[in-house]
Amino acid sequence: MNERALSYTSSLPFDRRLYPYDIQGSIAHAQMLQKQGIISQEEGKKIVAGLLEIKEELERGDFPLRPELEDIHMNIEARLIQKVGAIGGKLHTARSRNDQVSLDLRLFLKEKISEVIARVRELQRAIVDRAEENKQVILPGYTHLQRAQPVLFAHHFLAYFEMLLRDEERFKDSLKRVDVLPLGSGALAGVPYPIDREFVAQILGFSHLSQNSLDAVSDRDFVIEFEVCSSILMMHLSRLCEELILWSSSEFGFVEVSPSFAGGSSIMPQKRNPDVAELCRGKVGRVYGSLIAMLTVMKSLPLSYNKDMQEDKEGLFDTVDTVLGSLNIMPGMIRELRVNKQKMKEASQDDRLLATDLADLLVRRGVPFREAHQIVRRVVEFAHSEKRGFKEVSLEEYKSFCELFDEEVKSLSPSASVSLRDEVGGTSPGQVEYQLKRAREHLR
Ligand code: ARG
Repeated sequence: MNERALSYTSSLPFDRRLYPYDIQGSIAHAQMLQKQGIISQEEGKKIVAGLLEIKEELERGDFPLRPELEDIHMNIEARLIQKVGAIGGKLHTARSRNDQVSLDLRLFLKEKISEVIARVRELQRAIVDRAEENKQVILPGYTHLQRAQPVLFAHHFLAYFEMLLRDEERFKDSLKRVDVLPLGSGALAGVPYPIDREFVAQILGFSHLSQNSLDAVSDRDFVIEFEVCSSILMMHLSRLCEELILWSSSEFGFVEVSPSFAGGSSIMPQKRNPDVAELCRGKVGRVYGSLIAMLTVMKSLPLSYNKDMQEDKEGLFDTVDTVLGSLNIMPGMIRELRVNKQKMKEASQDDRLLATDLADLLVRRGVPFREAHQIVRRVVEFAHSEKRGFKEVSLEEYKSFCELFDEEVKSLSPSASVSLRDEVGGTSPGQVEYQLKRAREHLR
């Protein structure tokens, strides 16, 4: 190959990291060839021993990588032939790089998905612990980033537990479609040897065999699906990070990010920047990017394997590293977050947060909700124009807006407000306690 063409088409610089899976897959393949009598016992033994030696070389970092060979698969095979002689060339019997590369990616992803799930759970644990610890704390809940109704801090935090729970389920579900052995598909049409695919699947821990060789060598849905799951997860992390960034601003002051997870400014000595949260928020971009890139690569590709598909790897690896890296840093940041209960309490004293409760009070006296809404709107406007809170509006004044107001207007409070929301999914202490229990059970 032309030197420039070679360097342009080579995947070696990035697919090297697939070597453990490549060797694992090759050993299983050799054992199957031997069992089926496609290669002799002697040949099988030599090939497996050679592969194990190569693995050690790769682990020690003294494997002689040959950049003139396109990828890690060719490199390992060439090295095997160097080590055990021409019989090393028998390893590729009944196999193509097309089914081999799909196998390696699937082995790689199976492992990584389990790691992602474990780390999602670690983050959930940190969230649930902090929710539990601050479960009495009330803060304003927001819509449109405007103060809306009081909620328990634990309720707010547990919203992220729910998002992560769905993420966990999505990754688990995607595993079903990764867990399919493509080996035995050959280049595209299957192989003309009496292979035993079930045996290979068993050794490698796959639950299913691919059922169409053309599809098997050209399917990258499982890569795209991982990137979808990762994109949604990162989107969730970015929302959590965004709230930590907002909440740690002087304007909110609800939390302080621990100095060990914050950066300083080279010019402004007073700054403590939520760098980790910002970076995690920013890293969503590259994960979405890889997803869109891969969807685009696969769009309109004719069957079966096309070299375009080599573009699957860098984005996937980057996504795996970004997701694992982000999940690695988040639990510590959450655990070390200083929760400023006093600030939250003060903010939740804003009695406009209770306007809905005021309307609900009238509804319980028989006023249609829509009417109650209008009456309270007028009370709010009146109080606002007088620069007074609801508490400073007298009962007579209330009654001038609606006869049905009574002493109960004086009993409205943030804690009464949250307690009233006592149906499943609501923010009452009882419901939140139930959700905490449910979360704990999940994490057990
Ligand atoms: N380097 C290729 C890739 O990563 C391996 C598969 C190549 N197959 C082929 N027929 N050229 O996708």
